[in-house]
Amino acid sequence: MSDQIKIFDTTLRDGEQSAGATMTHDEKVQIALTLDEMKVDVIEAGFPIASQGDFEAVSEIARQVQFSVVAGLARAVPGDIARAGEAVRHAKRPRIHTFVSTSPIHLQHQMRATEDEVVEIIARTVTQARDLVDDVEWSGMDATRTPLEYLARCVRKAIECGATTINLPDTVGYATPTEYREMFEYIRRECGDDVTYSTHCHNDLGLAVANSLAGIEGGARQVECTINGLGERAGNAALEEVVMALKVRGDVMPWTTGVDATQLMRASKLVSVASGFQVQYNKAIVGKNAFAHESGIHQDGMLKHAETYEIMRPEDVGVRSSSLVMGKHSGRHAFKTKLKELGFELGDNALQDAFRRFKDLADRKKNVYDEDIEALLEDQIEEVAE
Ligand code: KIV
Ligand code: ZN
Repeated sequence: MSDQIKIFDTTLRDGEQSAGATMTHDEKVQIALTLDEMKVDVIEAGFPIASQGDFEAVSEIARQVQFSVVAGLARAVPGDIARAGEAVRHAKRPRIHTFVSTSPIHLQHQMRATEDEVVEIIARTVTQARDLVDDVEWSGMDATRTPLEYLARCVRKAIECGATTINLPDTVGYATPTEYREMFEYIRRECGDDVTYSTHCHNDLGLAVANSLAGIEGGARQVECTINGLGERAGNAALEEVVMALKVRGDVMPWTTGVDATQLMRASKLVSVASGFQVQYNKAIVGKNAFAHESGIHQDGMLKHAETYEIMRPEDVGVRSSSLVMGKHSGRHAFKTKLKELGFELGDNALQDAFRRFKDLADRKKNVYDEDIEALLEDQIEEVAE
């Protein structure tokens, strides 16, 4: 089994399905070209049947992308599959991704179909997709709430009809890591290892990345994710977190991705602006505070050796440098370093006085900027002169 994990980005499809995250045609093309440059393995460019705009965006992306596979999503409906096939037709490496629900609750209330009928639908639609392209992905929607025996029956049918990737989504973010890993182990035992198995995890319980990594442990070799974790409801597994978890913890997770991680921050900013969704300050990897230190103890450690409080280098994810943020928790060491940076060299007594004034200010003011410290020192110098 390969140690290389394929990264399947669905920012432009599942990500755009976030309420209020609609992106323009040009923004989508720009994001796709960035993902292509980053060497993301598969870009799910959209849902071509959803609208004329989606169809045109997927077609344009298919024409322009050089490296990545370009996938179009289709329900298990002939018209959807034909439209997706048409949209990805010009891609160097086209893929049709078709899905159908498999869980009892979806079959009963949404599909209003029997288990046997769904298996027939899988046969018809995967065969249709395979007549259009060689690379077909099949997903069993709500796989994690599907009885395993029936799920295996569906997967076997999809493989028999030509699916080359089998995706087992945790559509409602319900699974735990152990359950998710065991589902892949079971399906691989029952259905064999001749296809690529894929994870697709939603974040309703905040477990999307943990579940994706557990899926890899269970034998999945493709991870579906989005930049900034954008996606339906609480979002999808965050691409930047999956990529960096595998990179930083290669000692216990011996799998790699081909993604150029130094582009992560750029991609995050691009998606944030295009979607209008701000990235939370404490978001792992790409949040404003991901490499910022305010407490005195941490700042002191950082000034002595960065690895005391950082497990990856900011430049590895495209962040220029770590920052020591001056606030009421900052210590003398960081304050002295900041003064030096601003061009002030003070003797012990003056430093002591300046530090006391700084702490008073920091108690009153949420953010202490360089200008505040400069003003504080200028006041102090004037007082001494008087
Ligand atoms: O969450 C899900 O099940 C999906 C499918 C369309 C793959 O997004
Ligand atoms: Zn999804």
